[in-house]
Amino acid sequence: MAQAFSDTFEEAMARNPHLRKYVDQFRRKYGKLPEFHAQLSRDMKEILYPNILYPVGDPIFIHIYGDPATAEKKYIVIEPRIESREEEQKYSMIRDKILELAPSREIPEEQEEFERFLDALFDEAVLALIKSSKGGLFSRGQRFTITKDEMEKFRYLIKRDIIGIGPLEPIARDPYIEDIHIIGANNVSLVHKIFEMMQTNITFGDDVKLADYFKNISERIGRPVSDRTPIVDGALPDGSRINIIYSPDISIKGPSATIRKFSATPISIVQLIAWGTLSAEVAAYLWIALEYGMSVFVCGETASGKTTLLNSIIPFIKPGSKIYTAEDTPEVQVPHPVWQRLITRERGPEESRVTLFDLLKAALRSRPNYIIVGEIRGAEGAIAFQAMQTGHPVMSTFHAGDIKKMIQRFTGHPINVPITFIDNLNIAVFQQAVYVKGKFLRRTINVVEIEGYYEELGGVATRNVFEWDPVSDRHIFRGFNNSYILERKIAEIAGYEDPKEIYNELFLRAKILQRMVELGITNYWDVYREIKAFYQRGIEGLSFRI
Ligand SMILES: Nc1ncnc2c1ncn2[C@@H]1O[C@H](COP(=O)(O)OP(=O)(O)OP(=O)(O)O)[C@@H](O)[C@H]1O
Ligand SMILES: [Mg+2]
Repeated sequence: MAQAFSDTFEEAMARNPHLRKYVDQFRRKYGKLPEFHAQLSRDMKEILYPNILYPVGDPIFIHIYGDPATAEKKYIVIEPRIESREEEQKYSMIRDKILELAPSREIPEEQEEFERFLDALFDEAVLALIKSSKGGLFSRGQRFTITKDEMEKFRYLIKRDIIGIGPLEPIARDPYIEDIHIIGANNVSLVHKIFEMMQTNITFGDDVKLADYFKNISERIGRPVSDRTPIVDGALPDGSRINIIYSPDISIKGPSATIRKFSATPISIVQLIAWGTLSAEVAAYLWIALEYGMSVFVCGETASGKTTLLNSIIPFIKPGSKIYTAEDTPEVQVPHPVWQRLITRERGPEESRVTLFDLLKAALRSRPNYIIVGEIRGAEGAIAFQAMQTGHPVMSTFHAGDIKKMIQRFTGHPINVPITFIDNLNIAVFQQAVYVKGKFLRRTINVVEIEGYYEELGGVATRNVFEWDPVSDRHIFRGFNNSYILERKIAEIAGYEDPKEIYNELFLRAKILQRMVELGITNYWDVYREIKAFYQRGIEGLSFRI
């Protein structure tokens, strides 16, 4: 299935000449090729000397290379770069020209429009330079010439520096990064979700340029650094926290900074619909499922967006519910006021530790309406099933690419859930990072209902209610008029005379969510407010008409 939407190394190289060049050079030097992976998985942790290359959206690629000769692992950013003094000169001429032209123009505020504006300005600047060099205005009779490759390279760099966050752009795009440490212009390292701490090839030139960079970025985020306020905290455009220590007399190895990839406000379900991660119908289905206490697991590979999706659907749980969360690291966000938030204690003497297993056992005594486990990895999975068995709905995330693997892992060691209990879980949602034509996207690829184990079938009956079609990039509602959970579980509790009526309710909610997309109601708290109002007063409660 994967081939349908992940393009190949060959295609990626065809689109990105700088990638091909890098790979050729690497092969000449080391006598081997990097392995191309559209997506990483947690098993890769075991690889001692990784040689893995992955895309984070054209034209940037990341190569993780562990060199057996030096036993060092490195994070190598592959992107178009300036390679000679001549290129450097041309680049700064174009940049200056753009800065010269820009003040006389009206600058659009909207991001996409601004990008188009910058594109047009770039073309204009290049044209102006070519013209003025023909007229002899250019220094010492030299001509300003530019190749097509250079054009594309410079265009990328200009955008990266003006719209993006400059040399750190790759890091903003790479979902596998936890934090970044900058200790001087040529000393940038990071902590990777899979490959852990590594040095990178990211450079800011020299410390003067790095200081400039910090000055610039800190102004852009509204927290300017200066000699008088050399230490600032702020949030980058993507929500990551940045702490800058600017002044050379304080940070003696050069200006330094730490970036923690994290977004304080969760991404809302409406935002995910707007991005095409899932459809309004998929979201409406989950809304009804959570209203009626179904247990839902979000599954997928590393960094596929499981926790993000989980957080986005939590607001669908009825407003007056008591929610109990149990996690290793605090990631789950709950807007409901009655939220018992618990974190494991992993340090200290053995007898004082508190594991997820302990927290889940305690949950059963605290009468929650929903139990949310950040991520199930081991034995605590059995307690989660026990909780569901005793009538406590559970939500969690889990590493598994498809329903078959999910069931295998739950029924195998160390979780060992008896297969006859598997239908305590009602719905499994599958997330995937997909790589479509050079773009790195995340999609809900499947929503599966678990009907039950049938001895005579010798297996677990499941139904595919939604399926993502990679060709049209749409979600197909296969469970329409055929949903076990909606018709046989929920319609009954909800008291529908005709179980089929429940689809009307689903379409109504899909319409509400779609309307929010159109109206741009994407802020997490605004979305929560609308959902809450709908629970209280139906469509009358909404702040808009549908
Ligand atoms: N639908 C989406 N569209 C765009 N970006 C997303 C989407 N979902 C998640 N992301 C981004 O991808 C990164 C990883 O997301 P998240 O932590 O939710 O993944 P995960 O599957 O829970 O990862 P892990 O396996 O580490 O638990 C984050 O930076 C997040 O902001
Ligand atoms: Mg997660």
